[in-house]
Amino acid sequence: MADADVMDKLVSLAKRRGYIFQSSEIYGGTGSVWDYGPLGIELKRNVKERWWSSMVHQRDDIEGLDAAILMHPKVWEASGHVDGFTDPLVECSNCNRRFRADQPDIADGQCPVCGSKETFSEPRSFNLMFKTFMGPVEEQANVVYLRPETAQGSYVNFLNVQQSARQKVPFGIAQIGKAFRNEITPGNFIFRTREFEQMEMQFFVEPGTDDEWFERWKAERMEWHLSLGIRREKLRYHEHGPDELAHYAKTAVDIEYEYPFGWKEFEGIHNRTDFDLSRHEEHSGKRLEYIESHSGTRFIPYVIETAVGVDRTVLVTLCDAYREEEVDGDERVVLGLAPHIAPIKAAVFPLVKKDGMPEIAERIHADLRRSAINAFYDASGSIGRRYRRQDEAGTPFCITVDGQSTEDQTVTVRDRDSLEQVRVSADQLVTWIRDRVDEAAQAAGGAV
Ligand code: GAP
Repeated sequence: MADADVMDKLVSLAKRRGYIFQSSEIYGGTGSVWDYGPLGIELKRNVKERWWSSMVHQRDDIEGLDAAILMHPKVWEASGHVDGFTDPLVECSNCNRRFRADQPDIADGQCPVCGSKETFSEPRSFNLMFKTFMGPVEEQANVVYLRPETAQGSYVNFLNVQQSARQKVPFGIAQIGKAFRNEITPGNFIFRTREFEQMEMQFFVEPGTDDEWFERWKAERMEWHLSLGIRREKLRYHEHGPDELAHYAKTAVDIEYEYPFGWKEFEGIHNRTDFDLSRHEEHSGKRLEYIESHSGTRFIPYVIETAVGVDRTVLVTLCDAYREEEVDGDERVVLGLAPHIAPIKAAVFPLVKKDGMPEIAERIHADLRRSAINAFYDASGSIGRRYRRQDEAGTPFCITVDGQSTEDQTVTVRDRDSLEQVRVSADQLVTWIRDRVDEAAQAAGGAV
């Protein structure tokens, strides 16, 4: 299967099964903005909950924060985003389309849209921040930006969090939230979009210990990705060379994934030194240093940042899970999502719509839902078709109520991947499914 085909198939499966829809589709769509449907939002929530649990709930040295998207405009002057968060933009003189000057085909002198070898305009800096106005008057004094990263909210709240939570350095601040970038060349489905969500953690450390913490976080983050069930051979590190470093970073490494369109960034881990806190000190006139209680020593902490997109994680899990295979001469499409992140854990089918089977199936479905196991009831079409729909949706377990169920209250449970079928007592199903989901999480190396 050609790699380009995989992306097309994934986009169409995502729509068909209710994972992801193009934003404002009935109006022709909005460029590179996507909406998450009933299954997409569940997958997204599972990803976010696992990140939050591993960062905040399972550790005592990281606190959560939910800072606002709109911040004081001086924040973005201090952070360097007003001057430095730019991409070089060129325009094709033939079709007038605009591109990033550093795209490979542009560097080769050919327009990727019209193929023209006409000259491009001189590169000019294009700021990626979305600008808007606070209040009813649209003038320069009222400009605010939609944040391009959540990180700055953690820096300006560094002392608020440290003092209220009585944390000692080293400690971290974790946030999950929306970010916005007016990307010149968004694309590849939800890989690069203009509105997206980030899961970022800023870890404040004593200067001199930053290199060691950088290495620790680099390793921790790789383990987290593996805990989602992502294949190890599809992940690698990419150390940034001096010309790739963001304006705030001393060292940086990306965790890359091999997407159908090649190896590209999945997560960034950065040593941001004391750049951000020092700049906020300068620009706000407020001290942001940390005072060690036992020694009275003062310093501005260094920051090790881990930054990953929620949407990008969803894309990686979908790409990694997608497969086509033949079963008994029939083609099937499977989303082999790990059970602990799959949106629906179990589907419940009555074999036929009579002889008391729907009643038992409905009861099982209600039991599962009451126990907070996301389950789906389906009584329409042949069993084979119902299996195929759930295979595509990524549902790991399909429960069928058949004639025997009405006699002995057992059901068959079919495993999406091995296709094995076992009989389980209906009153044991909640525990049975929970155990399998927990086992999958443990096997992938993460806590439930
Ligand atoms: N605070 C640092 C920061 O924002 P980044 O490497 O620019 O660093 C971090 O972004 C992560 O956010 C990326 O690794 C990616 O997962 C996600 N991301 C960045 N830009 C994105 C975009 N336009 N669309 C989707 N995800 C994006």
